[in-house]
Amino acid sequence: MDQAEIFDQHDRLITINILGRDRKVPANDSILRCLQFLDMESVSESELCWNGDCLDCQVWVKQGDKEKAVISCRTNAEPGMEITRISDKIRFE
Ligand code: FES
Repeated sequence: MDQAEIFDQHDRLITINILGRDRKVPANDSILRCLQFLDMESVSESELCWNGDCLDCQVWVKQGDKEKAVISCRTNAEPGMEITRISDKIRFE
């Protein structure tokens, strides 16, 4: 499946912050797909189930003064979201 097929349903981008950098990612998609959008090759090669079984796709999202771990394949990116840490199981440059 190429990038156009994966992301062709998106008609707009949103801005989220990943590890201190503002990045444009597709609206209405999971955080994991957004990471894949930004780094297609590395994220695609990560050994992940993509369906909520392995729990290896955690990222940490800032909530007030705290961080909350979420399963990135099951959590949609929201405008303004701040991702402060990414599981080392996700290959993301
Ligand atoms: S990729 Fe396996 S639980 Fe998200």
